[in-house]
Amino acid sequence: MSEDIDPEYLEDVSDILTNREFLALNCFKHHYATTRLMHSMNVSYISWLLAKKLGCDAKAAARAGLLHDFFLYDPKQGRPSRELQAFCHPKVAAANSKATFDITEKEKEAILSHMFPLGPLPKTQEAWIITGADKLCACVEVFHIGIALTRSGRVVVSAA
Ligand SMILES: [Fe+2]
Ligand SMILES: [Fe+2]
Repeated sequence: MSEDIDPEYLEDVSDILTNREFLALNCFKHHYATTRLMHSMNVSYISWLLAKKLGCDAKAAARAGLLHDFFLYDPKQGRPSRELQAFCHPKVAAANSKATFDITEKEKEAILSHMFPLGPLPKTQEAWIITGADKLCACVEVFHIGIALTRSGRVVVSAA
């Protein structure tokens, strides 16, 4: 991690960022030019910064942002249910997050509603921040623009 990433942010998400299963998200392409791990880190860091600025629960925003796409399958190869991917993956991400990490109800709800308007209405300010940050990051990533943590050299993922 580059030194300009706020240590307070890293403290809020350190258990997630050191989990091998979670880091496997780096094996999946997401929005063409990035991996699902880098996309999740972007959403998380932007949500954390925004939540802090707005006086919201920055830790919940960072954690739910990081976990919002915690599903370990390639949707092109099939999905675990018959639902469309847009509706299916938030449920899988919430279930994986609950099974792997100590997440709060607020974090779970934010993960479940991140695809709004495809899916449930966000119920908290943090959930609104995450659904907005997800859309912003998706647009930017599709156009191959490095933002937040994907700017060159800010994050290096090691396989060990
Ligand atoms: Fe998603
Ligand atoms: Fe996403």
